[in-house]
Amino acid sequence: MLSARRRVLGSICATLALAAGLVSGGCQATTSAGGLAAPGAMGTAPDPFAGRTVLITGANRGLGLEFAKQLHERGAVVIATARAPEAATELKALGVRVEALDVADDASVAALVKRIGEGSIDILINNAGVSGGLGRLEQVDGAAVDRVMQVNLLGPMRVTRALLPALRRGDRKLVVNISSKLGSIGLNEGGGYYAYRESKAALNMFTRSIAAELKADGFTCIAMSPGWVRTDMGGPQANLSPEESITGMLGVIDDLGPDGTGRFYHYDGEPIPW
Ligand SMILES: NC(=O)c1ccc[n+]([C@@H]2O[C@H](COP(=O)([O-])OP(=O)(O)OC[C@H]3O[C@@H](n4cnc5c(N)ncnc54)[C@H](OP(=O)(O)O)[C@@H]3O)[C@@H](O)[C@H]2O)c1
Repeated sequence: MLSARRRVLGSICATLALAAGLVSGGCQATTSAGGLAAPGAMGTAPDPFAGRTVLITGANRGLGLEFAKQLHERGAVVIATARAPEAATELKALGVRVEALDVADDASVAALVKRIGEGSIDILINNAGVSGGLGRLEQVDGAAVDRVMQVNLLGPMRVTRALLPALRRGDRKLVVNISSKLGSIGLNEGGGYYAYRESKAALNMFTRSIAAELKADGFTCIAMSPGWVRTDMGGPQANLSPEESITGMLGVIDDLGPDGTGRFYHYDGEPIPW
């Protein structure tokens, strides 16, 4: 579990790095992230993301785009994926590597793996998702549920499995599955959101399974809820901006050691009941 001090420090560091437009220096709480790949400015502590290779799914808009932006600003080597890279104008303007990827399509995943070749990936962020949002049991139909499951559950499963060799070659070995509080079984008092809730609950179970299976190999695998965020999915009434959500999540991730594996965190570092 993350201490409140480390959570706050992580967020402050990320915010300062953004404001300065540089790799943050001297802000890093003691981290169990392992060896750090790039030196920070003027001999100060390096940013834990600097020099790390981070692959993000669904990075052309919303939270994925903000992940790409902040990680690029912090010196990470970003591989940002999108279903239609040619239309990903904002993403391409960041100057990061953009790759085509439809997480619901085995052939697309296989083609990405081919292009990665013998390269290594330090951090995988399984962010791509669809809402579905079926409000009442009478509205549930198999085709709609299948579509949501294909993206929200099978997407992260097929991408993580396919990129496992590249993740093994990386030295951070971190998998972050972007889930939702709506996927918490313990917190579900309201019902509804069929397909979406089930897909994220299943994604959480996948997270626990890979955390257990890959722990001995030095992997850290977590599920994160980004909060309610103003994106196409979250809508304009949501209480968080993408900047706030991603700054918070990166503060949690950069503080995370192997003992944090198999957990479900809110964007601000609070643990969420499964
Ligand atoms: N916003 C919130 O309040 C909120 C709350 C809880 C959890 N989340 C989770 O956070 C993640 C990001 O959500 P968001 O708010 O950024 O949603 P968003 O604005 O709707 O963006 C969704 C992203 O996923 C991509 N995507 C959809 N299907 C895909 C597929 N088959 N292959 C590859 N990419 C695909 C979209 O690409 P296209 O442009 O090609 O469709 C887009 O880049 C999702 O997993 C979501 O469930 C969001």
